[in-house]
Amino acid sequence: MPQAASSPTDPIGVFDSGVGGLSVLHEIRRALPHEDLLYVADSRYAPYGERSREEIVARATLVTERLIAHGAKAIVVACNTATGAAVCELRARHTLPIIAMEPAVKPAAAHTRTGVVGVLATSQTLASHSFVQLLGRLGGEVEVLVQPCPGLVEQVEHGELRSDRTRTLLAAYLGPLLARRADTIVLGCTHYPHLRPLIQDLVGPAVTVLDSGAAVARQVHRRLAEQALLRPPAGRPGGERFWTSGDPARVAAVVAELWPTAVTIEPLPMAQTALSDTG
Ligand code: DGL
Repeated sequence: MPQAASSPTDPIGVFDSGVGGLSVLHEIRRALPHEDLLYVADSRYAPYGERSREEIVARATLVTERLIAHGAKAIVVACNTATGAAVCELRARHTLPIIAMEPAVKPAAAHTRTGVVGVLATSQTLASHSFVQLLGRLGGEVEVLVQPCPGLVEQVEHGELRSDRTRTLLAAYLGPLLARRADTIVLGCTHYPHLRPLIQDLVGPAVTVLDSGAAVARQVHRRLAEQALLRPPAGRPGGERFWTSGDPARVAAVVAELWPTAVTIEPLPMAQTALSDTG
């Protein structure tokens, strides 16, 4: 789809199925303090991991178009599940930079001392072509144990960052990885870094927990620099604007736990597609 020429002062658009991508937004804000950031939490349709590839493509397409309509000069798909399902379609449709997630399996393979790495992600991500290709590129030098984590995205969406139920779920998912001597755990879903204190507590100090938020922020910086689209550092610091396809009051209560400043959550216009929603 042809796009109007972007300007360095245009904002960066970021989206996820819900509040998970705020873990990536944090890193982008840290790396690029002068940029304006737009964020869409597609909460009405979360978790994407329970949806078909076609449904995820439909939502990712619509949300990307809304961000572009608000002037985004680049899109960050702050969701591993949407990356696996939809990034090829988004890049085929749009010419602006589209930066996506890749679970931190390569850094984990370089870091492990036991030769065993564990990956927590949604079933959709673990089954995606891009993830299978990523594992193939490691060449079998380390053992990669994959662990789907049903229910964990919902715990974060409900703001249950420290509850007993969240701890029980995490213990069940991490236990088999630790039993097989994994010493490096990859958080392959952008919701999971919000649970890092609980995860680190469960695995203990000898196990390293990695995510790819900072690497994605560096990639955003690189892509904008290549295209002369970095906002000049002079002037005011960057701001943020947030939308959700879900209930703004409910999402605001969770965002208040996850974002350091007070924000307003706006309803996402034209959020409905023909898909069933989760209310
Ligand atoms: N944050 C998304 C990810 O990185 C969550 C997936 C979902 O909604 O199931 O995979």
